[in-house]
Amino acid sequence: MEISASSGDNINGTFVYLTYDGDTEIHEGVQGIPQSLKAQINHVLSNNDFDSKAATCLALLGSEGGKAVLIGLGKKSSKNQQGMREAGALLVSSHNKRNGSDYTVNLHGFTADDALNFAEGAMLRDYSYDLYKSKKDDDKQTLRVRLNCDEDALKTVSAGLSRIEAISSGVHLSRDLGNCPPNDMYPMEFATRAEQWAKQYSNVEVNVIAYDEAVRLGMGGLVAVGMGSDRKPCMVIFKLNGDKKGKHPVLVGKGITFDTGGISIKPSPSMDEMKYDMGGSATVFGTMQALAALGYDGKVVGITCMAENMPSAWAQRPGDVITTLSGKTIEVLNTDAEGRLVLSDGLWKAGTDFEAEYIIDFATLTGACVVALGHEATGLWSNDDDLRQRIHDAGNDVGELAWPMPLLPAFEKEMTDSKIADTRNLGAGRWGGANTAAAFLKQFVPYRDEEEEDQIPWAHMDIAGTYWGAKTNKMVDYGATGIHVRTMVRLITGQ
Ligand code: BES
Ligand code: MN
Ligand code: ZN
Repeated sequence: MEISASSGDNINGTFVYLTYDGDTEIHEGVQGIPQSLKAQINHVLSNNDFDSKAATCLALLGSEGGKAVLIGLGKKSSKNQQGMREAGALLVSSHNKRNGSDYTVNLHGFTADDALNFAEGAMLRDYSYDLYKSKKDDDKQTLRVRLNCDEDALKTVSAGLSRIEAISSGVHLSRDLGNCPPNDMYPMEFATRAEQWAKQYSNVEVNVIAYDEAVRLGMGGLVAVGMGSDRKPCMVIFKLNGDKKGKHPVLVGKGITFDTGGISIKPSPSMDEMKYDMGGSATVFGTMQALAALGYDGKVVGITCMAENMPSAWAQRPGDVITTLSGKTIEVLNTDAEGRLVLSDGLWKAGTDFEAEYIIDFATLTGACVVALGHEATGLWSNDDDLRQRIHDAGNDVGELAWPMPLLPAFEKEMTDSKIADTRNLGAGRWGGANTAAAFLKQFVPYRDEEEEDQIPWAHMDIAGTYWGAKTNKMVDYGATGIHVRTMVRLITGQ
């Protein structure tokens, strides 16, 4: 997609008008629309032939030439930025070859923010994953979208477009990684892609802790999960502006490139979807890309814990006790609760090797979180009220909902109830499974001062329901959503 802003006149292509419920005529603004087409549109509107409720779309062919698309925004009184994004997405999803590939969107009378959110929705929706289709879609054209806006909004819109492009590149990278089939996406492949990626930016650095080193360093969680596979586990560390001093965010991602469940093997139906069990690591990688492309000059570190959870003669067993990087021992009661094992090492490393201002982990961690929140919101746990609120607000701003969930001492107690180890990777029963998982993770977030109970601010985001299969997410057609790259950009850059 090529997207640009203008406020000029006499523009051709297909005219796009955004209309509110009850509008009887289109807003003036774009010059050059054939009078007959304009009259036709106004006739359709005043006749109530087009229902401008949100997420509706109508294509019109002018009887004397010209083409137009009407997009409904719903009630003017309930206009919001997510509605503008969805309108942009709708332009792309309803695009039809007959409309041509050149659109001019009338955004006169709208704010710069409106125009930019429209553009963002369009850009996010303009994604498909056809790498493995031997016959590419011949109909696929590069869409050219011109945002025709008020003179005084033009500068802001133009500047904002390159920002949106940078951010979208991070979202699309996350989706590419998440959609990649598991035979081609495995721990060291992820690492290789990260190393390749790092070459294009002088202010990023990627370090890979390969299997042997992980063993040597004592990353018992990562090693235990990954050792059953021929494709060995690794930890990938991303540093943006790594030379800078001072406290900085550290993002941690669960990167299970395929989760069979291990010896506690999963049932077959939908097991293929467990290729997206590396969605957390894709969120981290995508965020680093977005920030780097934006030219963000603060320091940010990302840690991804990559492993393939396979059953084999070398796989860990239920009943094993492992020693993690933190020194804490874990009784492994179910090898399918593997995400928390790899994260135990990632969180510990985040808090001990870096000057973390805060730590946020992303993980497709539990089916229980999908039961609780469906595909509509990410589960959000935090030991810090301020951080929780800031993540929640950033998510709201960008239309990626994160819902507060409880970190209760009772859940933590349930998880430490092992007869032979410090802690266990399974709750006492299945109730509250997303909460017990979060409570488990909390044990591996280092303290700045244990006596003062000063733990590093940390948040856990369970994206099991929101990284994939979010059918009501209008910014995605199918597959990986790339969720929370934009939330993180908003949180970290404040914009
Ligand atoms: N990757 C799964 C969680 C998951 C389930 C993600 C569905 C996306 C969709 C995770 O590793 C897992 O298997 N969790 C178990 C934990 C249980 C064994 C305590 C679960 O949710 O059943
Ligand atoms: Mn699992
Ligand atoms: Zn998993």
